[in-house]
Amino acid sequence: MKNIEEKLRDGLLEKLDMRAIAAVAENGTIGNKNSIPWKIPEEMSFFRKMTQNASVLMGRKTFESIGHPLPDRQNIVITRDPDWAREDVITIANFRQLLELGIKKTLWVCGGAMVYGALLPACRELYLSTIFGEFAGDTKFPEFNNLFTISKIILACPAFRVERYVNGRFVHKYADT
Ligand SMILES: NC(=O)c1ccc[n+]([C@@H]2O[C@H](COP(=O)([O-])OP(=O)(O)OC[C@H]3O[C@@H](n4cnc5c(N)ncnc54)[C@H](OP(=O)(O)O)[C@@H]3O)[C@@H](O)[C@H]2O)c1
Repeated sequence: MKNIEEKLRDGLLEKLDMRAIAAVAENGTIGNKNSIPWKIPEEMSFFRKMTQNASVLMGRKTFESIGHPLPDRQNIVITRDPDWAREDVITIANFRQLLELGIKKTLWVCGGAMVYGALLPACRELYLSTIFGEFAGDTKFPEFNNLFTISKIILACPAFRVERYVNGRFVHKYADT
């Protein structure tokens, strides 16, 4: 028997083109003290290129660390604080509300760890930048190998490489890609 959260994730997986995008150090670190512990312009431009003109979803802490809405994207932030609001940002209080926004384009799940942890099972794809090296950090990327199959390197740079993973439950839809 599936619980309510599993049923919601099934609904999100089926109804939305939701994909995750993340940059993860070789020791699993994604953040430290509410910021990203590296600055790699090529990796940032990969992120920008992938998410341009689509919707981006992030946790309130990740939004605060960036400090402003990402330009040329529909910005969606999840928070339990009913008073939290920012200009040009759609605020949601729970993941079910994603189904009520009428999102037609790709919805990119942009972190942080809490949001990845909750939504990775509902993402059709994962674009993972592996940042070469080990970085001290207080925020780690959740386990994903049990959910995603097929790994293809789509970009290789001196400081990082990007792999595309497909949700095991969606592999059949990508048989020809
Ligand atoms: N390397 C990368 O690719 C990458 C990407 C993104 C972020 N990061 C890093 O990750 C760190 C932040 O991650 P984090 O896990 O601490 O925080 P986060 O996921 O960005 O945000 C957590 C907040 O989101 C809200 N939230 C999460 N789940 C919710 C739910 N089910 N319902 C309602 N609200 C919910 C809550 O906000 P309220 O507390 O307001 O209720 C919660 O405190 C930072 O260091 C950031 O730089 C790294």
